Amino acid sequence: MAPSPLPSPPSSALHDLGEAGLLPSPQVAGQPLTALAPMQDVTDLAFMRVIAHYGAPDYFFTEFFRVHAQSKPEKHILRSIDENTTGRPVFAQLIGEDLGHLARTAAELLQHPVAGIDLNLGCPAPKVYKKNVGGGLLRDPGRVGEILATLRAAVPGRFTVKMRIGFDDTAHFDRLLDLVNEHRVDLLSVHGRTVKEMYRSEVHYDFIAHAVARARCPVLANGNILSAARAAAVLTQTRAAGVMIGRHAIRNPWIFRQCREIFSGTEPVRLTLADVRGYVERLYRATQTPDLPERAHVNKMKKYLNFVGQSVDATGAFLHDMRRSESEAELFAICDRHLIADDAAERKFSVEPYPGVIARPNCETPEAAADGCSLETVRA
Ligand SMILES: Cc1cc2nc3c(=O)[nH]c(=O)nc-3n(C[C@H](O)[C@H](O)[C@H](O)COP(=O)(O)O)c2cc1C
Repeated sequence: MAPSPLPSPPSSALHDLGEAGLLPSPQVAGQPLTALAPMQDVTDLAFMRVIAHYGAPDYFFTEFFRVHAQSKPEKHILRSIDENTTGRPVFAQLIGEDLGHLARTAAELLQHPVAGIDLNLGCPAPKVYKKNVGGGLLRDPGRVGEILATLRAAVPGRFTVKMRIGFDDTAHFDRLLDLVNEHRVDLLSVHGRTVKEMYRSEVHYDFIAHAVARARCPVLANGNILSAARAAAVLTQTRAAGVMIGRHAIRNPWIFRQCREIFSGTEPVRLTLADVRGYVERLYRATQTPDLPERAHVNKMKKYLNFVGQSVDATGAFLHDMRRSESEAELFAICDRHLIADDAAERKFSVEPYPGVIARPNCETPEAAADGCSLETVRA
């Protein structure tokens, strides 16, 4: 059976504020949707442009805009909307719980060329959920209902939700899905883990399949989609309308192009380590800003390369050396040694991470994650 049918496309897919119920059309008509998962400190304008260079997803989502009494939409996140040159629509994500300020922020963001407004019901960082925002709200379906009602009334166009399957357990899942239906959410992204499961447990695709069956809107399946082949398998298992991919798009920015290839029945492009060397260069140049000192820039690059390194070699040698670089020259010398010297250039970049090659030392404890969803605190 084919994945869930999509609603008919709007006349203009790009930068229209969107009619509720109609989603921007995918790049290839009739194919499942693809989306880059929102990632704090990652999915900024520079990263979206790099991803678009290698093959854009159908949809982008911003990092979350924090909403509280004193909040104003963060300027650096607004840039990913206002200066979007990817050719694909961007949804603006909010995190918060105050009804009035959520409605105010949605109205402010609707002045910008967003494809829709997305609500974060999944962030698992204790510092976040203790304020009853993000994943913390999943403990309180009553409050979720109030927030959905408020945002639905405030957003004449597309209103979307990204959520986990529960907080400690999945007891409220059906109730939450019914609220999504009651408040006419236009698109639901489901990360198939509870908040307490953070990022490393198995992903419960059976719960995503359940959401697909119960929700009236299209559902994007999210969590551990390691490759285009896995995307196709998850779509078969869940019947979701599409996939949302996060960390594995940092590791492999070709993944959305490969998804489209697999969905159309063609062999996905295989990459070499020389291609990866090109990606590192492009990412470095894209993320360079005049006010970012070289050492800080190199450290920022290491956070992306922690994911990339999972597919470079089975022993983790690239990761080991890369983590010790302190300057741009050192970083690129290490990249040259591992990615293009001798016969490396022709070597294949592994489609999935090598088993046991860990993106970071274990830092996914609640204490370490206290600061938020960020590359500092999440490992794959
Ligand atoms: C570094 C990082 C930052 C994240 N920031 C956000 C965020 O701002 N909003 C959100 O809804 N989810 C956020 N997430 C969760 C991802 O969107 C996604 O649900 C999760 O990583 C699982 O998908 P994946 O296995 O494809 O990475 C973040 C994840 C990571 C790794």
